[in-house]
Parts: sequence; structure tokens; C-alpha cells
Amino acid sequence: MCGIIGFAGRQDQAAPILLDGLERMEYRGYDSAGIAVRSETRGLQVRKTKGRLRALSDLTRGGADLEGVLGIGHTRWATHGEPNDVNAHPHVSENGSIALVHNGIIENYLELKEHLMKLGVNFASDTDSEVVAQLLEYHYNECHNMLEAVGRVLRRIEGSYAFGIVCSDYPNALIAARKDSPLILGKGENGNFIASDVTAIIKYARDVIYMEDGEIAVVTPNSIDVFDDELIPVDKKHNIVDWDVSAAEKGGYAHFMFKEILEQPEAIRKTISPRIRDGRIVLDDITLTTEYARKISRIYMVACGSAYHAGIVGKYVWEQLLRRPVEVVLASEFRYSEPLVDGNTLVITISQSGETLDTMAALREAKRLGGRTLAICNVVGSSIAREADDVLYTWAGPEIAVATSKGYSTQLAALDLVGLYLADLLGTVEQSEYDAVLAELQILPEKMERYLKDFQDTQYFASRYFNHNSVFYIGRNLDYAMGLEGSLKLKEISYIHSEAYASGELKHGTISLIEPGTLVVALGTYGPLFDKAMSNVVEVKARGAEVLAVTTEGFREKMAKTADAVVAVPDTHPILQPSLGIVPLQLFAYYVALQRGCDIDKPRNLAKSVTVE
Ligand code: F6R
Repeated sequence: MCGIIGFAGRQDQAAPILLDGLERMEYRGYDSAGIAVRSETRGLQVRKTKGRLRALSDLTRGGADLEGVLGIGHTRWATHGEPNDVNAHPHVSENGSIALVHNGIIENYLELKEHLMKLGVNFASDTDSEVVAQLLEYHYNECHNMLEAVGRVLRRIEGSYAFGIVCSDYPNALIAARKDSPLILGKGENGNFIASDVTAIIKYARDVIYMEDGEIAVVTPNSIDVFDDELIPVDKKHNIVDWDVSAAEKGGYAHFMFKEILEQPEAIRKTISPRIRDGRIVLDDITLTTEYARKISRIYMVACGSAYHAGIVGKYVWEQLLRRPVEVVLASEFRYSEPLVDGNTLVITISQSGETLDTMAALREAKRLGGRTLAICNVVGSSIAREADDVLYTWAGPEIAVATSKGYSTQLAALDLVGLYLADLLGTVEQSEYDAVLAELQILPEKMERYLKDFQDTQYFASRYFNHNSVFYIGRNLDYAMGLEGSLKLKEISYIHSEAYASGELKHGTISLIEPGTLVVALGTYGPLFDKAMSNVVEVKARGAEVLAVTTEGFREKMAKTADAVVAVPDTHPILQPSLGIVPLQLFAYYVALQRGCDIDKPRNLAKSVTVE
């Protein structure tokens, strides 16, 4: 959601570094931004403004207007209070001595605000975050020790938070605290950092410490000290991040999303290859044994958004391979639905960021109920990865575009791997089938590359159809699961209303919406049900629909007899087909959004990594 950065430097000016870090994290929120920098001569200088980071950069002349080597910055995705200059962070306490940036939601802020107002405190903004800045000043005035004051405040607030704090009485120190919101500490050559995300600081620091819930850190140019909620020092492990800096940069592409779509073959290769040895899947990183697998009576896949859609693909694949029931549940529903989890339940949480609050809460609920948890996650050391019993990382590298592409496709690859692995443990898959799926999985990246060498037809169809106001995606079985993701891609970045339906369900209601000219994206990549998919194409054509079909090279000719436009991807094993079929759907959404002049990497109202409920 919001992005936080803090820098305690030795000599380098903080403001340009903070702006650079915020730019790399802008995908976390982009309705307003601000920085606070402290210097001996000018004290605490705060600049904040509504709008994109560019506006803040212009306002501060790229940071040149602020002097000082210590500061904090924030890019906001509004929850409490409209996005405007005043509600932008940092928030400053009434006497101007404390500035704070916050990611998360303070649930009891109204009660605290009323209390402080009764004491005569005046508030400038409508935010829950300002309440914390004011409360800090109040407690600091009581104890004159910032660490102690932070400890007292944390005991009074409820909700989720990552804080970055500067206080004019502490010229060399930043204070950070976290609960249910990501925050890392980075040890750099020329100073130390706090940040919501590694991508913000990777250019400056690769040695990072992941903060745990309830911890408080004091960060100076030469030291990082972490304390627990009783203010007792904690020994923290350092982790070296090996992400390539260029992976988090656009590298000449117009949009991160386009770059990330093209990176998919490599991301899948990295996710799969190290885990296949001598024709067998070897999952060193997880500890699922045959004995445990035999005990599994129920499997849940729990996630949000595209990761949830990956789960739906996973359900079809796993049920075929494992012959065990798999339930896919939205994380936001799971946690409040009294899920039927016990010691024999395997709960798979799927999350690119590893910080999605709903998924995190679902994971905790599953653990509380005694279930065993396995996270499929892209960010090493993220909260979900750390709390799950087992974690299988997808190696997609940093994903910056708000709309996921390589995050999703590596989730599919990971689910295929684990599904096949478990089926092998359980003996529910024939050796020949195991070999066939595995062989195709290994050459999936090449097949994807083949499609990505020439996708002009997809680009052309986007320019033909970009003016439609409503689009239906239809398909059966795995094509339906893939359609859900294709439809989400289109709506989130192009703002065109679209829905995905299981084709067989159309005539139970939705077909009444099909009228001459309605665009239907018909998915016919799943071989076993191709003929049924064709019947549905005929059905919507008969009602006047314009049909853009996505199928495989093997079915292209048949499909072209009925559909108005056809895009074909290479053929693979039926259960892996969504990994290829999704690519033209991503590109179609991308080019439609481009034609419509949308802000592709930062769609309106959205932010990556949803760390609020
Ligand atoms: C859509 C998209 C979101 C995320 C969802 C879960 O393109 O990116 O729907 O998939 O917010 O995010 P993670 O995977 O980080 O838990």
C-alpha cells in the first residue's frame, strides 16, 4: 500500500536519496507523497503534495531545496482522509518536533484523537496517522526519551503499522516500528535505511534485516539496533539480497508491465529448473513427506486477486493429479468463515508480495486451527514467507507494475511443481503421465518464448477492439480459470468492464447480455473440452457476438471457421495450457490500455501489495 523510506546518512544529502527510493516504490501508492529532512541549521523541513511523485520532485527541485543527511519519505495510497496536501505524509506533531510516516491503519484513532483534543491538541489532517504523531509528542513530553515514547504509543494503538519517525532532538537517528505492515532495515555503505520494500534501497544497501511484528528499531548512520515491545535489545539476522538492480528498472521499455510480461519465460525457468534433477522434482525447500501427504484430507488454496486466480488453476490441476478435494477461497473470506481446518488440512497461501494482509491473516487463522501451511511466495523474507510452515519461492524477481504478470505465471509454475510432486508421493499419477507433464513443464519457457517472438496479431486485435465497453471472457475448466485472470487484467488496466464466465453457465442467465457486436473473448486452449468450447462460440455468434478466440496452434484452423479473430499459442500438456494461454490475454489487456491512453503501470485507485484489510 503506502511506501515508506528513511535514510540516516553520513554525508550524502538525504532528500534526493529519499525521492529516488520513493520512485522505486511508487507502485505501492501514488495519490500523494512527502518527505521530511532534518538538518542542524534548518531543523525539520517537511514538503508534501498531492499527486504523483513527480509533483514532489518538482516542488523540492529534485530534493535540492531540503538540507540534511537524515530523513523520511512516503508515497501514499489513501485510506483515511482524501488524497490532498494536508493528508499527505509525513505528519508533524503540533510543536513541529516530530515527523512521522505511516503505512497501515490505526483502528482506534478516533478515540485517541478525541482524547488528545480534550487535552487541547490541534489536528491538521483527517488521517489516522497524524494521531500517532501527536500521541508521540504527548508521550515524549512525559518521558523525554524517544524510544520509550514510541514504546508507550505502541501500547496504546490498535491496528496495523509500519512507522518511520524523526525527532528534532535526535539529529542522527530514525526510529522505525512495525506490526502487520512490512518494514525492512538496510545497512548501506554511506548510511542506513528503513523501507517498506527492498526495491527502494537495493541500489544503496543489500544487507537487510527483516523487522518482526512488535519490534522497534533505532537506525543511525553507523548502527542499527532492534528492540522488542518491552524495549529489550534483539539480535537480528542479516540477509543479503541478490536481486539485480536492473530488474527493478524499466530498462528502455515504455512500461514495467510490458517488460515483466516479456520476462515470464525466464522467471518460469528460474522457478522450475533448480527444482528438477534427473527427471524428478526435488523440493529441498519444503518438508512435505509421503507420510504427511497420506494424512491430508483437505486442501485449501487461499489468496487474493490474481493469486486467487492462480489458485483456481491450481485446483483444477491438483484435483486431476491428486484426486483430493481442493477448495480455493478468497483470503478476505477465509479468515471470517470458520474454515474447516484441522491437523490434516494443508493450506496453501499464494502471494507474490508476501505482504497481503488478508492472505497473512488467513495464514495465521489456518495455523491457529492447527493446519499445516505452505506459502507460494515471491519475496524472500516477506511476512507470509516467514510465518508459513513451508515456503516455496517463485523466482520472478521484483515485480513493479501494479498489475501482476510474471508473479501470476510463476505461481502457476510453482503450483504445477508442487501438485505433481505430491501426486508422485501419493502415487496418484502414472509414471508416464508424471514424465509427460514434467517434460512439458521444462520446455514451457521455450514455448512461451516462441509465442513472444511474434505477437503482432494480438496487438492488432487490441487496436480493433479497444473501443468496446464491455467484454465477456468465456471458457471451460482451465480455460475458465484462465479467463478470470484475463478478464481482471483487462479491467484493472484499461478500465473496461469485463466478466469471465464458465461457458456452460452462459445460458443460465448471462447470455441475455450478448447482443450484436458484443465482444466475447472465447478461450479454447483446453484440449479435452475443445469441442464444447466451440459449441459455445457458435452459441454466442448466433446472438451476434464478435468473437476473439484464444486457442492453440493445433486447434487454430478449427477455431478460425467460427471465430472472427483467432490468436494461437503453442500446444502443451492440457494442464499446463493456461501458462501459455494467459500471455496473449495479458498482452491484449496491455495494448487495449495503451490505445485508451491509460496509466498502465499505475492504474487508478490501485496499489501493489495491499497491506490493509
Ligand atoms: C492484479 C494483482 C492483484 C494481486 C493481489 C494479491 O493484477 O496484482 O490482484 O494479485 O493483490 O497480491 P499478492 O500476490 O502480492 O498477495
